[in-house]
Amino acid sequence: MSGIAVVILAAGKGTRMSLPFSKPLAPLQDQKLIDFPLKSLQAFISLRKLNAKYSVVTGHDKENVESYLNDHYQGIDYAFQKEQNGTGGALKSYLEQCEWAKEQKYTLIACADTPCLEAKDLERLFQVLVENEAKAVAASFHLDTPKGYGRIIRSGKGFQIVEEKDATNEQKAITEVNSGLYIVETSYLLEQIAKVDTNNAAGEFYLTDIFNPQAHVKAVSFENPQSFLGVNTAEQLQEAEAILRQQKVAELTQLGVRFIDPSTVYIDQEVEVGAGTSIAPHCHLKGKTSIGHHATLEAGVWIKDSDIADQVEILSYSHLEKVQIKGASSVGPFARLRPGTLIEAQVKIGNFVETKKAHFHKGAKASHLSYVGDAEVGEQSNIGCGFITCNYDGKNKHKTTIGKRTFIGSDSQTIAPVEIGDDCFVACGSTVTQDMPSESFAVSRGRQQTKPGMAKRFLKK
Ligand code: UD1
Ligand code: MG
Repeated sequence: MSGIAVVILAAGKGTRMSLPFSKPLAPLQDQKLIDFPLKSLQAFISLRKLNAKYSVVTGHDKENVESYLNDHYQGIDYAFQKEQNGTGGALKSYLEQCEWAKEQKYTLIACADTPCLEAKDLERLFQVLVENEAKAVAASFHLDTPKGYGRIIRSGKGFQIVEEKDATNEQKAITEVNSGLYIVETSYLLEQIAKVDTNNAAGEFYLTDIFNPQAHVKAVSFENPQSFLGVNTAEQLQEAEAILRQQKVAELTQLGVRFIDPSTVYIDQEVEVGAGTSIAPHCHLKGKTSIGHHATLEAGVWIKDSDIADQVEILSYSHLEKVQIKGASSVGPFARLRPGTLIEAQVKIGNFVETKKAHFHKGAKASHLSYVGDAEVGEQSNIGCGFITCNYDGKNKHKTTIGKRTFIGSDSQTIAPVEIGDDCFVACGSTVTQDMPSESFAVSRGRQQTKPGMAKRFLKK
């Protein structure tokens, strides 16, 4: 027998959270609660190069939990817990339904509601199991107010876990608590789970009853209680959000990122930031965003799923989504770069410029108040203030192509589809409806008529 089965318990409703969906799908950062333990488990498995099989026990809201996981992960099996009769019941369903379950040497059990788990904690727990040749290990930690958690009662050569509901006042005073994270030899699990009954205050099968003082089992005490926070209430979800945020900022600070006020910055787990980059207060970096080295993010910048190269400057209150900025370019303040924007080196996108599916080539500029959508802007071209690509005819979107070194005067529009060549000049206030060959000049605006003395007819006395 070899291999390790990884089981995540996710069948519970999460009654204490009053959510309109089940607890594993509670929103956390840009993901769901269950993503966090799952990703840490995957990280541990790949670090240790273990041969793992993954399974999630679902029950309440089964369809939504499974469809979410299937959209985001591969190779997960499911077991269905028909009646949510406790964590022990969840394990029984898993053992009955997953045909490979009994063939794995080890079974690692985690709860979907412990989002702050880190791969290094799993690594330590596994090491204790293997080094001691123990039958099972449970991660424990200490809390001054241990309310809600199962208490660890060490006696004999092992230990047992008493749930809060079943604990005497004396047991309730114990501050060492159960994290809900276990690694067990599968043979031991099979032997013990058969003995678990519902003879307790909740009338449920407690998985925690697989531990007993007579067995060669170990409670491994961890110093970092934050990692094991169990999310059972809305307050604990907020707490998890804060812990993950602080951990991320601390990790990036270690790598050489400068935060002016780290307490006001929100950075999702998968975001990468290079050393020497400076991040001002109230920035939000979300999803799969990566920021290079020596970049500057001024106050209030919001970036999602974007790729920002070294030395780029994003000035205050700019909003970027699904954008790629390749070189040392400058964006903002107050710029909105929408999906499909691609910016090459030394580009300037100034204030109140909105872009969408727009490719700005090297050295191009749009400094003020413009909408550039479905467009190509060639190298060194300059877009004046108040330019609009009229890309939508009410039915379809059309493209504007602007060549190299072209000058677009202020307050102009292109009625797409239209192509403007290299080295062109569009006079201010023009509406370009026809293609322009390279080196051409276009003007399309009413000629000015000036009538001396006539203004008084329109001015109020
Ligand atoms: C559990 C532990 C407790 C520990 C705490 C740590 C038990 C009996 N108690 O309590 O000792 O201190 O976690 O956070 O195990 N679930 C199912 N099926 C069910 C019930 C629950 O799959 O029938 C799943 C839930 O979706 C959840 C996990 O198991 O992901 C834990 O359930 P929860 O109700 O949160 O247990 P706790 O009361 O937190
Ligand atoms: Mg819980």
